[in-house]
Amino acid sequence: MKRMLSGIKPTGQLTLGNYIGALKNFVAYQDDYEMIVFIANLHCITEYQEPKELSRNLTDAIALYLACGLDPVKSTIFLQTDVHAHAELGYIMACNTYLGELNRMTQFKDKSAKGEKNMTAGLYTYPCLMAADILLYDANYVPVGEDQKQHVELTRDLAQRMNNKYGEMFTVPEPLVAKVGARIMSLQDPSKKMSKSDETNKGCIYLLDDLKTVRKKIMSAVTDSFADIKLDKINQPGLYNLIEIASALTGRPMQEIADEFHGQGYGVLKGYVADVVCAEMEKIQNNYREIMDSHKIEEVLALGAKKASAIADTKLDLVKRKIGLEIIY
Ligand code: TYM
Repeated sequence: MKRMLSGIKPTGQLTLGNYIGALKNFVAYQDDYEMIVFIANLHCITEYQEPKELSRNLTDAIALYLACGLDPVKSTIFLQTDVHAHAELGYIMACNTYLGELNRMTQFKDKSAKGEKNMTAGLYTYPCLMAADILLYDANYVPVGEDQKQHVELTRDLAQRMNNKYGEMFTVPEPLVAKVGARIMSLQDPSKKMSKSDETNKGCIYLLDDLKTVRKKIMSAVTDSFADIKLDKINQPGLYNLIEIASALTGRPMQEIADEFHGQGYGVLKGYVADVVCAEMEKIQNNYREIMDSHKIEEVLALGAKKASAIADTKLDLVKRKIGLEIIY
């Protein structure tokens, strides 16, 4: 069985973008692949997080993994800091990554271009830690949204470089980006990705938003003044985004949805999208409440950490031996 691995960084609450671009796919894949999914908590602290809030977000993220349908028996679910090999291999990867490669990473470039102050060294080297996350487990596939593809491609380059330099040690992974839903846009500015760091709070749907708020956010989504429902990503990006959300959640082709609503007002289409999103989120939120009451999170994480450590520690030992960090008696 081929192995798949992915993670989500719980900086703030998980979003509908995380669900459609990543989490929903993890659940779909867990029957056909050996699925390893983790909470990337080390990645959160590349920027300051209020400690109590961060800790709460970790619990919510794990509960949401389970609420969305990840099954701890089929999948390995764990917290990144419970497996120490991530930080150690992360450092080794940083020693095998060129500054030029990190300078080319879009996320870092965008932040520097905006002139953000006090950017940390952790933010700069974070793709090295992400490479370690993936390579520790010999993952064949890494399901991610569009924005993370570049990091998986860097991981491939690093894996090949280390295999050439020191002898075969890593499986070279492939990014898996879905055709629909890989880049859900802000409801207020369809030129920007829907993101946890949304300043207005109106452009982003959080998985734990109450359903009335969700409906309001969708009904007031920015569209255009053409008054014509068509599938036109360039000229009608807001509408396109709403149709993409509905398509990703229902499995209906985007064109079929656009055709169904052609000739009707934008409000009617928005009402349909709100119905689809709220129905999905209601199920997730009901499961979430049950999981939070059941106290099973601790048990799930203990099992996950045990399964993940067994794989990661063996790989880290091999890497250390290959690069000469261990004394051979
Ligand atoms: P993160 O936490 O920013 O996002 C988690 C996953 O959600 C996807 N995603 C989206 N997909 C569609 N539309 C959106 N608006 C949207 N926003 C986010 C992301 O593409 C991602 O798949 N560095 C990673 C976490 C990570 C990781 C890893 C992932 C750490 N180690 C190893 C895979 C493998 C991150 O910050 O994702």
